[in-house]
Amino acid sequence: MTTAKRVLSGMRPTGAAHLGHLLGAFENWVAMQDELDTFYCIVDWHALTTDYADTSELGQNTRDLALDFLAVGLDPEKSTLFIQSQVPEHAELHLLLSMVVPLPWLERVPTYKEQMKQLKDKDLNTYGFLGYPVLQAADILIYRADFVPVGVDQEPHVELTREIARRFNNFYGQVLTGPQVKLTPTPKLPGTDGRKMSKSYGNTIGLAEEEDSIRQKLKTMMTDPARQRRTDPGDPAKCPVFDLHKVFSTQETQDWAAEGCRTAGIGCIECKSALADNVVVALEPIRKRRQDYEKRLDDVRDIYRDGARRAREVAGSTMADVRSAVKLVKEDTL
Ligand code: TRP
Ligand code: SF4
Repeated sequence: MTTAKRVLSGMRPTGAAHLGHLLGAFENWVAMQDELDTFYCIVDWHALTTDYADTSELGQNTRDLALDFLAVGLDPEKSTLFIQSQVPEHAELHLLLSMVVPLPWLERVPTYKEQMKQLKDKDLNTYGFLGYPVLQAADILIYRADFVPVGVDQEPHVELTREIARRFNNFYGQVLTGPQVKLTPTPKLPGTDGRKMSKSYGNTIGLAEEEDSIRQKLKTMMTDPARQRRTDPGDPAKCPVFDLHKVFSTQETQDWAAEGCRTAGIGCIECKSALADNVVVALEPIRKRRQDYEKRLDDVRDIYRDGARRAREVAGSTMADVRSAVKLVKEDTL
């Protein structure tokens, strides 16, 4: 375990986790926990960078995500699971990094201007929002992580983390280690309206969702518009339902659906119902584990308390090196 490479990743607590999180992050995180020294963080401070004006849901979202981590199969015996704000060292490193990060580096981050435009209803002209990639860099560097598994949209943040580490080291000596990106392969995962599955589009299928609701949502999911009537043939390549078959169905079922679609041999209802069966089966163990943990919330609390303790040990040791590199005085050097 001591020689295993270290992995750090984080997720914002923004409401019910859905299939996008499962395919885009969790499955990958779970797969790594046997071989690598994995740290997975609920980044509640990151949620504040965009949602500072209304924190009424932050607590519940954090509790939900804490359960989701466990429900998807992250194992506290193998992974260090913790909540960012319970490891205040992240904020301390963020502060010290912020001294050396040139403003233009932050203004250039692609997600900066994009999110400003996308989240027009929020005032994101804040110091915290601009500095959000620096906070992410602190999350990563404080654990001296070797790998950061993220989707391609987050790649610029990990690149920036390496640049920040290099600049910091130039000033203060070799104290921080730049991480490698470990790109998570992400299958195309459309939501019920055919657009990318995302909470902001209201088109998600939740990990904790009831079977009836999953079936209902898939039943009304958008299909290849060419199939207006049952007798109209369709093209699976143009159908978001088929994209989900590719993720959740066996090759045999995919072939059956593709062939039936092209020849109008099956109807969309049938096709979707076969998909729903598979999605329900895939989510069953997750629902079971979640229900089980919901019955023992004291254990969940202990898991995250212990996770924060383990995280603080590593973070604290990095910070001791960082403070001394920066030449801050300690009690005994005063
Ligand atoms: N910025 C990431 C996101 O929005 C979340 C995140 C915060 C993160 N800190 C991290 C991811 C550290 C990887 C490593 O998805
Ligand atoms: Fe989509 Fe299946 Fe209908 Fe074809 S049969 S359009 S793949 S839902």
